[in-house]
Amino acid sequence: MLINGMAAVVTGGSSGLGAATARHLAGLGAKVAILDVNLDLAQEVAAEIGGLAVECDVSSEENGEAAIKAAREAHGPARISVCCAGISESRRMLGRDGPAPLAHHTRLVNVHLVGTYNICRLAAADMAACEPLPDTGERGVLINTASIAGFDGPPGAITYDAVKAAIAAMCLPMSRELSRHAIRVMAIAPGMFETPMATGLRQEYINEMTDRIPFPKRFGNPAEYAALVETIVTSPMLNGETIRIDGGLRMT
Ligand SMILES: NC(=O)c1ccc[n+]([C@@H]2O[C@H](COP(=O)([O-])OP(=O)(O)OC[C@H]3O[C@@H](n4cnc5c(N)ncnc54)[C@H](O)[C@@H]3O)[C@@H](O)[C@H]2O)c1
Repeated sequence: MLINGMAAVVTGGSSGLGAATARHLAGLGAKVAILDVNLDLAQEVAAEIGGLAVECDVSSEENGEAAIKAAREAHGPARISVCCAGISESRRMLGRDGPAPLAHHTRLVNVHLVGTYNICRLAAADMAACEPLPDTGERGVLINTASIAGFDGPPGAITYDAVKAAIAAMCLPMSRELSRHAIRVMAIAPGMFETPMATGLRQEYINEMTDRIPFPKRFGNPAEYAALVETIVTSPMLNGETIRIDGGLRMT
């Protein structure tokens, strides 16, 4: 799909991978709506790229519906949806203080898994109502953010690992279900990327992870994630798959 002139929604677009994606898509001529809980930051990025900022907790049914509606009213139905909203908040299931509060698990499941599903179902409904594009015959593309943690299962983050695996697992059945609407579904599984989420980790952990990356021996730049989003949007044969972008890193 050509990106120029298309409407796009980017969740978590105020920061990190989402902000880089919002900037990249806008630079290619897309009309971008940023959906984020952090409205101040969303407004900053939106002002910079000439986009729309919408306050939205992706895990809320009402927030999601209102945000997709606001994006549609401003730019028309989005043919590109990129879900980057997320939190890390790692903690051991059984720590020194005993079992982790169940609320910790539920919060991560809600933001990542429920939030991704929520935006996908709403964005897909808008895409399904669009005409197929004359060049590729497709109506739209959904791109979600998993993590290599979902495959490699580093300890101390069981719930994060599980929700990221679930986002990857949703990709194939979602692409099969939406194929009759000519909507593609892809996921990206980043390794370590230089964003506020990752740079807030302990320095020893950052050093250890960097050391383990075969090549290039550094954290990814969010612009490299955004470039992969562009590749996915413009490559009609990419469908139903999760792509790792990690410099060959395997976590243990
Ligand atoms: N940075 C990495 O190394 C890395 C690696 C693998 C996967 N990821 C995933 O990539 C995604 C983006 O992470 P990032 O590194 O850019 O983090 P980030 O903290 O820079 O950005 C996350 C954004 O999501 C927003 N957000 C949080 N909860 C939300 C909610 N309920 N509703 C709407 N917005 C919400 C935040 O306000 C923020 O703008 C996340 O899903 C993360 O798990 C990141």
